[in-house]
Amino acid sequence: MLTIGSLQLRHPFILAPMSGVSDQPFRLLNRRFGCELTFVEMINARSLGYKSKKTKRLISTVPSDRPIGVQLLGSEAQYIERGLDILEAYSFDILDFNAACPERKVTRRGEGAALMKDTRKLRDLLKLVKERVRVPVTVKIRSGWDEKSINARDAALHAQEAGIDALFIHGRTKTQLYTGEVDYDVIREVKKALSIPVIGSGDVFTGPLAKKMFDETGCDAVLVARGSFGNPWIFEELGEYLKKGVIPKFPDREEIARVMEEHLAANVAFYGERMGVVIFRKFFTWYVKGFRKTRFLKEKSSHAKTLPVMQAIIEEFRGSRLYI
Ligand SMILES: Cc1cc2nc3c(=O)[nH]c(=O)nc-3n(C[C@H](O)[C@H](O)[C@H](O)COP(=O)(O)O)c2cc1C
Repeated sequence: MLTIGSLQLRHPFILAPMSGVSDQPFRLLNRRFGCELTFVEMINARSLGYKSKKTKRLISTVPSDRPIGVQLLGSEAQYIERGLDILEAYSFDILDFNAACPERKVTRRGEGAALMKDTRKLRDLLKLVKERVRVPVTVKIRSGWDEKSINARDAALHAQEAGIDALFIHGRTKTQLYTGEVDYDVIREVKKALSIPVIGSGDVFTGPLAKKMFDETGCDAVLVARGSFGNPWIFEELGEYLKKGVIPKFPDREEIARVMEEHLAANVAFYGERMGVVIFRKFFTWYVKGFRKTRFLKEKSSHAKTLPVMQAIIEEFRGSRLYI
């Protein structure tokens, strides 16, 4: 059991917030495979004020898509306050504050991972969020800005001082982006220093890698990010492996094709045909990754615009055992 403020979770595996990926169809699919808590895509406090259709679609949810977290990005108190006022109209179960995003367009405004350079400011912003929000508040940090400034412990202690309910830490620096080794030591140091739950992030791609994260850091839960790409089965694998030490058999083409059809149909129902298919393209390449002779299918899928065309590509994948 994992407790984050007033929220209780049965499983210590959480689907990470991922911009461009964690939309409603994707979240619901992962829940079907055992994922309990998910996050919507990161939302900039400033853009919340524009009340665009896109932002509304990003935050809106359905009862089967709970518990759910919203992740806010910002660095200026006035925009954050206004963003929180707007968020009051929506239902969600956790508010996570982003101090981890490494994108230049974000950090140059002092947002995301740039806050790792000013952990007192991070603390003050978190205090402000905590005072105004009724649901549990969390923060997501990185190990530091670069290898010369690994300061996650300091950032985490400042965050805890602000009264937050749990902390997510991606064990890489801002300059590492998503490559290079995960720094398990720094996550362990943070876990040791804090009394609130610490959730580790980085390379949770398999049951054994999740176990490694737990064993080497002592963290309370893990965040699944790229490991979920084309692989909602990962949530079953983590459950099985941590309970019994067994890795379940990887799904065959037939099962993958069935899940792709389900995902594609959900996308079309949510976004409409053309947009649903276009958004599905990247998921298709993730689902078929590792299978031989799929290069031509990936190429075809990158031009698909209609449901029948994408369905035919999935059908070809299902039957293409013949080519191996
Ligand atoms: C496509 C993509 C989008 C991401 N978007 C976000 C985001 O919006 N907010 C966030 O805190 N982290 C984001 N992340 C980082 C992940 O949550 C996670 O911390 C990171 O990918 C490390 O985990 P992994 O090695 O298991 O992928 C994103 C990662 C990817 C790959």
